[in-house]
Amino acid sequence: MIEVTGVSHVYPGRETPALREVDVRLEEHRIGVVGANGSGKSTFARLLNGLVLPSSGTVVVGGWDTARDGREVRRRVGFCFTDPDSQIVMPTVAEDVAFGLRRRGMSKGEAAARVRDVLADYGLGAYADHAAHQLSGGQKQLLALASVLATAPDLLVMDEPTTLLDLRNSRMVADTVAHLPQQVVLVTHHLDLLTDFDRVLVFDETRLVHDGPPQESVKIYRELMA
Ligand SMILES: Nc1ncnc2c1ncn2[C@@H]1O[C@H](COP(=O)(O)OP(=O)(O)OP(=O)(O)O)[C@@H](O)[C@H]1O
Ligand SMILES: [Mg+2]
Repeated sequence: MIEVTGVSHVYPGRETPALREVDVRLEEHRIGVVGANGSGKSTFARLLNGLVLPSSGTVVVGGWDTARDGREVRRRVGFCFTDPDSQIVMPTVAEDVAFGLRRRGMSKGEAAARVRDVLADYGLGAYADHAAHQLSGGQKQLLALASVLATAPDLLVMDEPTTLLDLRNSRMVADTVAHLPQQVVLVTHHLDLLTDFDRVLVFDETRLVHDGPPQESVKIYRELMA
């Protein structure tokens, strides 16, 4: 359960808010977020795992307040960035997936087994010992997703996870998301990813302007963009 109450955010050095007065409770399994460039989507996504803290209002995820219980929130909320380079932290592909697992206290042997499984699942099995930064853009995006999902977060927040992916890998990500047991919040400009989602939020000019089923929200988003 995600509870966003009266949340506004002003980035340091900015005069105007990037997000204004957002009030929303999210209990559904799969939630999409759409809106124009600069409308506040990434800011909203980053608020959910405490990467950004509200200037006013509160964000509570699974009972934990992002401002007060940052550590607990970050343990439970996995985040996939638009730019996978900002997420890859270790030299090799296998080490990068292992990093999050070891940090959560998994033994070396257990982590190595999990890493093998996860890399195989994401078509990166042959790249285990490759330099992570030498992967293609799409492969990096898959690695970032694999590293996050390996830690089995309670909530997965994804900020445009398919921007660099070809059609096959976009479908693979969509399919993965469709079968994840945990709650997912997915920010995207790829509207077809959201067809089967439970609920889609539309942001416009720093506000949450619509909240409804995918077909309805996408229609409203298209009208806003017309
Ligand atoms: N780190 C930052 N510091 C200052 N201002 C920021 C920062 N990140 C975003 N902003 C500003 O906040 C506003 C909302 O940005 P945000 O990244 O949330 O938009 P977005 O909806 O994700 O856009 P896009 O579709 O282009 O990714 C923009 O005006 C942007 O310039
Ligand atoms: Mg964004």
